Amino acid sequence: MASHPSEHEPNRADLHKDPSRVSGMFDQVAPAYDRTNTVLSMGNDRFWRAATTRAVAPRQGQRILDLAAGTGASSVALARSGASVVAADFSPGMIAEGRRRHSGIPNLTFVEADATDLPFDDDGFDAVTMSFGLRNVNEPKKALAELLRVTRPGGRLVICEFSHPPSPVFNGLYRFYNDRVLPVVAKTVSSNAEAYDYLNESIRDWPDQPTLSAWIREAGWTDVAHRNLSMGIVALHRATKPVVAPGR
Ligand SMILES: C[S@@+](CC[C@H](N)C(=O)[O-])C[C@H]1O[C@@H](n2cnc3c(N)ncnc32)[C@H](O)[C@@H]1O
Repeated sequence: MASHPSEHEPNRADLHKDPSRVSGMFDQVAPAYDRTNTVLSMGNDRFWRAATTRAVAPRQGQRILDLAAGTGASSVALARSGASVVAADFSPGMIAEGRRRHSGIPNLTFVEADATDLPFDDDGFDAVTMSFGLRNVNEPKKALAELLRVTRPGGRLVICEFSHPPSPVFNGLYRFYNDRVLPVVAKTVSSNAEAYDYLNESIRDWPDQPTLSAWIREAGWTDVAHRNLSMGIVALHRATKPVVAPGR
């Protein structure tokens, strides 16, 4: 990693959201990223991705934005539908790894882009989605507004993100796994264990399901709803871009 905060810094999750640090960290973990995720999530990542793809419901002829797409693990299933998928991410390392792995998929394009300042026209996508990306963006509310801007009226938003199990007992076990087990496992399977300390802290500090729903509504989306996956370890938020903009 080009630079990373020391252990003495008070809130590593916030500091790591410095865009150049986040981008540099993902550049470094890119080659082993997908395998590490499968191990750390104990195989659940496949189920979460399938649920996200079903919620996006891509169809041939549609244009879909997968934002913070990383190496494209979340984009490939979307592209299988025949839809034209744009996988956007601001980490050159993740984009390069994605292009290398998925060069044989003609309807999947990788674009280097910052979620808070998207290089796309207004109203250009039928659906926009982020899997495990919004939590990493330093200004998530700005990203939600940018996603709204680039979606056509009536188009859909799907956010798949780590969240907070509502059951106190299960949440206790889950916190134990994240605080005690995950750091040890990450050291053995990842090229950069510190990135997974960041992962744990960013999940802990991320808003719960109703708060994220409120952020999505504030950004101008309507019909906001969520459902929990794996008892709330992950939540799938969905929304629609209003056909008539509020206030018109
Ligand atoms: C945990 S990975 C998720 C990748 C992929 N969506 C998946 O499900 O495997 C988070 C990604 O968010 C990207 N990211 C963080 N902040 C970003 C920003 N401001 N703009 C674009 N991408 C960003 C990182 O580079 C990283 O690739």
